[in-house]
Amino acid sequence: MRKSKALIFEMSRSGRRGYSLPSCDVPEKLVDELLPRKMQRSEPLELPELSEVDIIRHFTELSTRNFGVDTGFYPLGSCTMKYNPKVNEDAAVLPGFALMHPCQPLETVQGALELLYNMERGLKELTAMDRFTMQPAAGAHGELTGLMIIQAYHRHRGDHKRNKVLIPLSAHGTNPATVSMAGYEVVQVPCDDRGLVDLEALKEAVDDTTAALMLTNPSTLGLFEEEIIPMAKAVHEAGGLLYYDGANLNAIMGYARPGDMGFDVVHLNIHKTLSTPHGGGGPGGGPVGVKERLIPFLPVPLVDKKGDEYSFDYDLPNSIGKVHSFYGNFGVAVKAYTYMRMMGAEGLKQASTDAVINANYLMSLLKKIYHVPYDRICKHEFVVSAKPEKKKGAGAGDIAKALLDRNFHPPTVYFPLIVEEALMIEPTDTEAKETIDAFATVMEQISKDIDEDAEKVAHGPYNTVVGRLDEVRAARSPVLRWEKDKD
Ligand SMILES: Cc1ncc(COP(=O)(O)O)c(C=O)c1O
Repeated sequence: MRKSKALIFEMSRSGRRGYSLPSCDVPEKLVDELLPRKMQRSEPLELPELSEVDIIRHFTELSTRNFGVDTGFYPLGSCTMKYNPKVNEDAAVLPGFALMHPCQPLETVQGALELLYNMERGLKELTAMDRFTMQPAAGAHGELTGLMIIQAYHRHRGDHKRNKVLIPLSAHGTNPATVSMAGYEVVQVPCDDRGLVDLEALKEAVDDTTAALMLTNPSTLGLFEEEIIPMAKAVHEAGGLLYYDGANLNAIMGYARPGDMGFDVVHLNIHKTLSTPHGGGGPGGGPVGVKERLIPFLPVPLVDKKGDEYSFDYDLPNSIGKVHSFYGNFGVAVKAYTYMRMMGAEGLKQASTDAVINANYLMSLLKKIYHVPYDRICKHEFVVSAKPEKKKGAGAGDIAKALLDRNFHPPTVYFPLIVEEALMIEPTDTEAKETIDAFATVMEQISKDIDEDAEKVAHGPYNTVVGRLDEVRAARSPVLRWEKDKD
């Protein structure tokens, strides 16, 4: 049964109070002295009037409407919605970190600088890069920072002809968007019938106008780009650079490193790989790492250590400048660093092992029921096509709604674009076999429901707080504010 709930304003009853205070013992005259009359309200603010218990019930009920990793399975492909250990939060709210001000004198923030320094060492080890900036606030921000570094590098060498960035067809939407924002032209490289970048097509596309190849490995199909070494060779020989979109690093930590594959610039989505909070518009982290020759172009400052002292290095002659105030979202770095230290090198490798095993296990269950277009060993995620179900009357979006009805967050739908009716599924490393089995059972049940009554599935969901939304209107003209007497 769908829950329906009145707005807090509709629940309001005149004169009802959620607090009890002693009567005012300050003369009203004093109020006038403190706040000039012309600045005081002429009429009381129209706030909802409710009892304490009503307010508690209202907000507690609202909090249960949200779906998060802490409430259930969240196999949102490409997003690595893995569990964020609460110890990360404990570390980030330690007063020494949380109450610090970025303008404090250096000698009073040595611990924070040490953390950033050590975190950079860890990221360098994980990726085989030579230096990192922590400034970018998310993956897409890291992409822009990385492309600006690449642009600055080519310009510095007087190489002004390079105006194109190559991107495979399976790329995440932020990649072409970033390329355009950085003022480059997108050149799409097709995938072959294995779902991998077509090496011959890439070789044909590369020339002296190529600024970079932008790639995520494993790809958004969850497939490892086996020919990355010849790809890197082709791009480098033509004078271009390689950009690694690190969104999928969760699949290969401790096994393979982008720096060893030939990448020159890397961004990491620490909210995916290193378990810091994800989404909701909150602060994130997208550190960018580079190879030696690109260090002079990094944003300033970097953290340095001389003897036992930590300091900032602003001496980067060709720096692209700053891309975030101060040093990025420091609290997010504390969370990621805590995770890295709690896991250790072996633990991070194990996380990747588990992510890959979970994905392959779930794929083996689902391919008995659904069509898996690239049916080979996958990495952390795989893609199912609901094209046959769509023909019966209920496609990928409808399956997603049916999952919501059964308390599972749906996978990513309709992406990557090269798979029709795509459902991109990433179970992550933190899920138990029982949860994965339960998800597969529900997917099987949905498939049966489609066979029996596709029309019904196509009109779901039936158990959620709201039914089917007009997604275009919700995105283009959202109504985010309640206005009195509007309806
Ligand atoms: C492959 C890939 N690249 C880049 C991004 C962008 O990262 P962010 O959401 O942190 O901006 C994502 C996000 O889902 C992604 O999956």
